[in-house]
Amino acid sequence: MLERIRQTAHFLTSIQSIEPKIGIILGTGLGGLIKEIKPIKVIDYDQIPDFPVSTVEGHHGKLIFGTINDIPIMAMQGRFHYYEGYTMQQVTFPVRVMKMMGIETLIVSNATGGLNPDFKVGDIMIITDHINMFGTNPLLGKNIAALGPRFPDMSQAYDKKLITKALEIADRNNIEVKQGVYLGTSGPTFETPSEYKLFRIMGADVVGMSTVPEVIVARHMNMTCFGVSIVTDSGVPGQIVEITHEEVQQVAAEQEPKMTKIISELIAQIRN
Ligand code: HPA
Repeated sequence: MLERIRQTAHFLTSIQSIEPKIGIILGTGLGGLIKEIKPIKVIDYDQIPDFPVSTVEGHHGKLIFGTINDIPIMAMQGRFHYYEGYTMQQVTFPVRVMKMMGIETLIVSNATGGLNPDFKVGDIMIITDHINMFGTNPLLGKNIAALGPRFPDMSQAYDKKLITKALEIADRNNIEVKQGVYLGTSGPTFETPSEYKLFRIMGADVVGMSTVPEVIVARHMNMTCFGVSIVTDSGVPGQIVEITHEEVQQVAAEQEPKMTKIISELIAQIRN
């Protein structure tokens, strides 16, 4: 695996001229950030050796190299979900490649069902911690010591300094944000009412089908992580209604400008 990561990183370094410092996974709700990127090179996933190809509706498979507020970044337009049938190693391969290219900070976004009764549909939540309920872990198997330790620490997976900065940015721009715990599960089913209830009892504020694998792998390699969720539907007892992927996309799209504002300002403040 190490060799494949190296080869892909080398390929991506050779086809463009910038040295990105920040990797962004443009999950649901962050599509609008594309407009903030001054592109230098865009490449389809299927042109990249060893990259999986995205299949889910509403996600496009492109890697974008460019700058946001003059900071060199690499953005994934479209991520790989475990529910699509990829292995955990495939889902997290791009994060491995990012680190190999010298990227030290990972920024992710996602759509979620709200579990905290204080949250409402449309809320933005800065992720303070996560719970892995995928029933698996991308680090299972032989550890590659060159990438990270056998037993990675997860005591502060989401960077406190970036959380503080994001809260300041939100405050300054009069954007209301919540903070809380993201629970990641495989999907593709949305939760039954009993599952939503269970996840709330477990200590989660929102539930979604991504992010946890990527952040585990990023932390394995000691990358700094920041994540933000949009509450696109409610898993709070009494508020649960039938939902569709289209509705999730719709709510997320409405919140895009706020997400874009927070993340683009946050990037301007990251200099490493
Ligand atoms: N559950 C899991 N994933 C989700 C949800 C949900 O309710 N909404 C958007 N992604």
